[in-house]
Amino acid sequence: MRKVCAIIVAAGSGRRFGAPLPKQFCELGGRPVLMTTIDRMRRAVPEAELLLVLSSDFVEEWGDKCRKHGFESPEVVIGGDTRWQSVKNAVERVAADTYVLVHDGARPFVMPQVTDALIGALDSGRQGAVPVVDVVDSLRETIDGFPGSRAVQRSRYKAVQTPQAFLSDYLHDAYSRPYRKEFTDDASVMESAGYADIALVEGHSDTFKITLPRDLAVAGLCMDE
Ligand code: CTP
Ligand code: MG
Repeated sequence: MRKVCAIIVAAGSGRRFGAPLPKQFCELGGRPVLMTTIDRMRRAVPEAELLLVLSSDFVEEWGDKCRKHGFESPEVVIGGDTRWQSVKNAVERVAADTYVLVHDGARPFVMPQVTDALIGALDSGRQGAVPVVDVVDSLRETIDGFPGSRAVQRSRYKAVQTPQAFLSDYLHDAYSRPYRKEFTDDASVMESAGYADIALVEGHSDTFKITLPRDLAVAGLCMDE
């Protein structure tokens, strides 16, 4: 069995959420969101070693919160100005020949059936695996600089969640290449480096990302489930 490492990226500032504190430190069930994310990851993948990526501005505060809640923090890595840079900083710390699950700290509800499917896809020889869910809204395509739009066939599109799983050797290579602003997740970074054999596994509606304040209220409901 290969070693497994989970990288939890939580170095963002939560601009869209708009709170004084980045959303991953806001309260969910009486403690920071990030503690639920870490607990759920530990429960889903008990064999995984965890790396937590934080902005240097919040390392001290995180330490205080961990002491206050009697919470054992994973090893901390300092993030960067983009999600890409934050992931890259952690990827550089992972040993060769390791399965890596890259996960958003702002998605507290990690599901074991999803992490099992991701690891299963890597075991079967795929270069990567990502969880996807159906899109619920209708979709239209727009073209830069042109007025108008056209309807596209919704069933051909999927929304991509995290954790996203790859072998560390491939991640090292892909994250050693230059940044492009089109990178929105790890799969897009991998694909642009030529690692396009990425399995789609069934994601879970609870694994939504907290982006706006109302998402935190919904997360509160999921805690009671
Ligand atoms: N992230 C990170 N480092 C960054 C930017 C984002 O580690 N420089 C992390 C966030 O903390 C979050 C995940 O990547 O857990 C997904 O990013 P997103 O939801 O966009 O969070 P923010 O960038 O913090 O929010 P916003 O884009 O609204 O500012
Ligand atoms: Mg962001």
